[in-house]
Amino acid sequence: MVSQKETVCVTGASGFIGSWLVMRLLERGYFVRATVRDPENLKKVQHLLDLPNAKTQLTLWKADLSDEGSYDDAINGCDGVFHVATPMDFESKDPENEVIKPTVNGVMGIMKACVEAKTVRRIVFTSSAGTVNVEEHQKNVYDEQDWSDLEFVMSKKMTGWMYFLSKTLAEKAAWDYAKEKGIDFISIIPTLVIGPFITTSMPPSLITALSPITRNEAHYSIIRQGQYVHLDDLCNAHIFLYEEAAAKGRYICSSHDATILTISEFLRQKYPEYNVPSTFEGVDENLKSIAFSSKKLVDMGFSFKYSLEEMLVESIETCRKKGFLPVPLTDQTKSEEVPSVGDNIELKTGAVLTDGMMLCKNTEPGITAEKSDTCMPAQQMCA
Ligand SMILES: NC(=O)c1ccc[n+]([C@@H]2O[C@H](COP(=O)([O-])OP(=O)(O)OC[C@H]3O[C@@H](n4cnc5c(N)ncnc54)[C@H](OP(=O)(O)O)[C@@H]3O)[C@@H](O)[C@H]2O)c1
Repeated sequence: MVSQKETVCVTGASGFIGSWLVMRLLERGYFVRATVRDPENLKKVQHLLDLPNAKTQLTLWKADLSDEGSYDDAINGCDGVFHVATPMDFESKDPENEVIKPTVNGVMGIMKACVEAKTVRRIVFTSSAGTVNVEEHQKNVYDEQDWSDLEFVMSKKMTGWMYFLSKTLAEKAAWDYAKEKGIDFISIIPTLVIGPFITTSMPPSLITALSPITRNEAHYSIIRQGQYVHLDDLCNAHIFLYEEAAAKGRYICSSHDATILTISEFLRQKYPEYNVPSTFEGVDENLKSIAFSSKKLVDMGFSFKYSLEEMLVESIETCRKKGFLPVPLTDQTKSEEVPSVGDNIELKTGAVLTDGMMLCKNTEPGITAEKSDTCMPAQQMCA
C-alpha cells in the first residue's frame, strides 16, 4: 500500500492493460484519474466504475491524444502518470493522422502537461516490443539497448508498421524531452500481453495469441517466435517501477518466449476440442525461440508470478466466459437451454462455432455470436 494516498493519472484506462492497471492501483490505495475518450459510453467504462474502491478513489476524465491540451486538467495535481493509451488501428486508411501523429504528439502533450502541473514526480510510459526488435535479422536475445530499425519498417511496411513506427518515434521523442526538462521518465516494454481481462471487448493481443485456435492465419507470423507476459505481472511491474525510487531508463517486461509450435502443442493437449493445427507453413520443428531479457527488471527486485500455461489458460477461460470463444457442449448443457447457435457461425473473434460447441450462457450483452464478417481486423495485434 502507498503510505500517503497518491493521485495518479492512467491514460487509456478503458483498455485491456489500462483497466487492469486501474484495478491494481485502486487496490493499493491510489486515487486514480482514469482518462478515456468517451466517459459517457458505459460499454467502455462500466467495468471501471464497477471496480472495488471505484466509488471513493476513481474519477473519469475525458481526453484524446489527438486534442492538444486535452490531458492538462486530468494531470494537474497528480503525483504520477501512467501513459498507457495508444491508437491501435492497423487498418487505418490514414495512418499519419490516425496513428502516428496522435501517438507522438500525444506523449509530448502529456509530458508538457506534467511539466506545467509541477506536481508529477514520475511518468511511466507503456512502450512496446515493437520499439525493440523490428529489424531484418533477428538476434537470439533482445534487451533495453536495442531499438527497431525504422528504415526497415518503412521499406517493408509490414503488418502493424504504423504502430511500430509511432511507438518508436513517441518513445524516442519522450526520452529527448525528458532529458531536456529533467523529467523522471520510465518506459516499460511489454512483449505480447495475455491473461484474464475485465474489458467487454476482445483484447487485440488475445486475437493474436489465440490465433491457432481461431485459425486467424494473418497472426501466425507474430507468434512464430513470440514472447509473452501475463497482464497481471505487467501491471504489477508498472506499479513496481513507479514506486521504486532507483528505477531509471527502459525496462523490458517479458517472462516467457515460445515458438508457435510450443504454443499449439500446449493448446492441442489442453483443449483438444479446438483441433489446433500441429504444423504451420514455413515453420519446422528446429525453429528456435527469440528471447526478450527482463534481467534489468528482475535485478531491481521484481518477480514474475505466472507461467506461460497459466497465461494461456486464463486467457481462454475468460474468452469462453465472455462468449469470445465457444465451449464444448457437455451432456448436461445439451439438455439445457443455451444461446442459439448453428453450424459455422462466426464469432466476432474469428472463432467458429460448430456442432458440439456452444457459447457460454454467461455471454455478456452485445458480444454474442454474429453471422458476419465483422471480426476484428486480422492484422490487429500489439506487442
Ligand atoms: N496488449 C499487448 O500485447 C501490448 C504489448 C506491448 C505494448 N502494449 C501497449 O500497451 C498499451 C495498451 O494496449 P492495450 O493492449 O491495452 O490496448 P487497448 O485495449 O486497445 O487499449 C488502448 C487504449 O488506448 C485508448 N486510445 C486509443 N486511441 C486513443 C486516442 N486517440 N486518444 C486517447 N486514447 C486512445 C483507447 O481508449 P478509449 O477506450 O478511450 O478509446 C484504449 O482504451 C499501448 O500503449 C500498447 O502500445 C500492449
